[in-house]
Amino acid sequence: MFKAVIFDLDGVITDTAHLHFLAWQSVASEIGIPIDEAFNAGLKGISRMDSLARILRHGGMEEAFSQKEREQLAQAKNALYVESLKGLTRDSLLPGIAQLLTEIRANKVRIGLASVSLNAPTILQALGIASAFDFCADASRIQLSKPHPDIFLAACAGLGVTPEQTIGIEDAQAGIEAINAAGMLSVGIGGELSGAGLTLSSTYELSWPRLSDFWQAMRGQN
Ligand code: BG6
Ligand code: MG
Repeated sequence: MFKAVIFDLDGVITDTAHLHFLAWQSVASEIGIPIDEAFNAGLKGISRMDSLARILRHGGMEEAFSQKEREQLAQAKNALYVESLKGLTRDSLLPGIAQLLTEIRANKVRIGLASVSLNAPTILQALGIASAFDFCADASRIQLSKPHPDIFLAACAGLGVTPEQTIGIEDAQAGIEAINAAGMLSVGIGGELSGAGLTLSSTYELSWPRLSDFWQAMRGQN
């Protein structure tokens, strides 16, 4: 049996992926770069500064802003994003997540978080689930963002498990690649994720039996 489940946050535990999009869309339009949901899909799992770099590249403005100006743009985006987080409550958990956290805990399997968001602690508090996690990897200490495996490896180390004993759950292509690169089993939420060991259309389909069956099928042991 697996020893831990490590969750991404934005788009897996709660729908903050959309709030990130709205905040970036506002800041990008101010500097004349229109972005849509399709472009935003490529920003999922990507750190704040890397997301900004992708937006500037998308608008052909890679050279247009100094480092200081980039930091100001990132701060402006974060201010909008943090403001939008004020509406988060326990009701903002995506379907099936509260039940799944309870089931994992009941089966004495550890629970970790691997989010590159610097706002992750605030969001877990707002959702009322901070105590459900045995270990949350510290995004501020991670040099290489997803698709590099570093944040998942940090979460495994903090939980005291090896990647081979662990399942990771992600909604982003970069996240699935990070989980696979770490040597964990990957579960993808939402369509169009290549390389996921198991793909589910929504968190509604996540459950303890689903994860156990997946583990059994892939690792062939109980
Ligand atoms: C990830 C999101 O979880 O966190 C990205 O998928 C986001 O969209 C990244 O850019 C960083 O978040 P924050 O809150 O530190 O700006
Ligand atoms: Mg995500």
